[in-house]
Amino acid sequence: MIAMTLRANAPIGPINRNIYGHFSEHLGRCIYEGIWVGHDSPIPHTDGIRNDVLAALRKLQVPVLRWPGGCFADEYHWRDGIGPYESRPRMINTHWGGVVENNHFGTHEFLRLCELIGAEPYICGNVGSGTVQEMQQWVEYMTFDGESPMADLRRANGRDEPWKVKYFGVGNENWGCGGNMRPEYYADEYRRYQTYVRNYGNNRIFKIACGPNDRDYNWTEVLMREAGKMMDGLSLHYYTLPTGIWQDKGDATGFGEAEWFETLRRTLVMEELIVKHSAIMDKYDPERRVALIIDEWGTWYNVEPGTNPGFLYQQNTMRDALVAGVNLNLFHRYCERVRMTNIAQMVNVLQAVILTEGEKMLLTPTYHVFEMYKVHQDAESLPVDLGDGPVYASGDAQIPQLHASASRAADGAIHLSVCNLHPTGEADVACRIEGASGTGASGTLLRGGALDAHNTFEAPETVAPVRFEGVTFADGVVRFTLPPASVAVIKLA
Ligand code: AHR
Repeated sequence: MIAMTLRANAPIGPINRNIYGHFSEHLGRCIYEGIWVGHDSPIPHTDGIRNDVLAALRKLQVPVLRWPGGCFADEYHWRDGIGPYESRPRMINTHWGGVVENNHFGTHEFLRLCELIGAEPYICGNVGSGTVQEMQQWVEYMTFDGESPMADLRRANGRDEPWKVKYFGVGNENWGCGGNMRPEYYADEYRRYQTYVRNYGNNRIFKIACGPNDRDYNWTEVLMREAGKMMDGLSLHYYTLPTGIWQDKGDATGFGEAEWFETLRRTLVMEELIVKHSAIMDKYDPERRVALIIDEWGTWYNVEPGTNPGFLYQQNTMRDALVAGVNLNLFHRYCERVRMTNIAQMVNVLQAVILTEGEKMLLTPTYHVFEMYKVHQDAESLPVDLGDGPVYASGDAQIPQLHASASRAADGAIHLSVCNLHPTGEADVACRIEGASGTGASGTLLRGGALDAHNTFEAPETVAPVRFEGVTFADGVVRFTLPPASVAVIKLA
């Protein structure tokens, strides 16, 4: 029997709903096909955005959506994506697959998508190849209420009211595809660009600076020291590659247990990154005013055989479900500093929650984890102590077998989320609840069977949540048996 303690009397802090954010880039079939099918498509749509995807995203309660990139953002010139479709320039998406970008999905279409799914827009501006004036005018175009050249242009394009745009990123990966800058140089550029990202009317912008890539602690140090006072958020990017090698990352399906283990071990590195980057931020910002925004995270595998290598299309298995569960558990645990994250990416790219093929759509195991876990949005994070819980070992390495988090919702219900990382061992758990009473417990379970269990367009329900049988709550202890390679969310009332 594995003993666990959930301390309902020692809340950590609020779990910002934006931890459940998503990322959509002009990359492969994420925007075009995955979201945007256009006004003349036979696929049922609302204003050019496919209805099946809209319905799935609404169910997920997507709180915030990042766009237009990624690396694409630092090559994107927003004025190409406004006005009549026939006059929008066709260009080459040089970074992603060399395909034609017709700019039919632009500012109006993105902000319409956000309205339709109820998400806050998070727009990433172009520092790498754009100008300060271009960035200033984009903000003016979207948010200025009065008479001005950009607000008038917006009206001429059919939108009278300004939009509310809260989250604005000043560049993306400026240490790499966003201009190969040194941190000192980018810090100065950030200071300059953000000066002109203005608050018009009552729109208040939350400015996000480009942060480090995984273990680049020097980037965080320099940015916080030189520009910390001028930002509201600092981003962090970390991807899970099973092999850790970019040239051969490992496959999305058909992998063995060694890759299963490595993928989860590398996912757990996220904790070290949060702790160490936060410690640097604490030095310059002890009040924790500046949020750590993990605006790209998830698995990155070799692309599916026969697909465009620049499209980053990959299947999604029960292993991805566990990667999602572990990351979300960590974000709950460190919710004081981590106040937004954006999984990469929403549809058809990397660790997608939705895959599409023509008119068909399926929900991935990662989608189901986000759906099961959404009860944690805006809830109070509660610590879960696993003590010297069981380990899962492979060769000389070991990781915890179980990974958990918990929260209390506004209505008082407590939710406990637990992942069993072991591919063959089940886990008998007794979780003592400190500081709360009750007798009602019910749960939802996601499990696969095969290590690479996944959904296909022919069998889209292979991995789908079911009722978690056998959960009991008596004498302050919740008991349950977690099957191998599974994710569960248990509600205590
Ligand atoms: O998500 C794919 C790419 O990964 C993004 O465009 C970039 O920011 C990162 O390197």
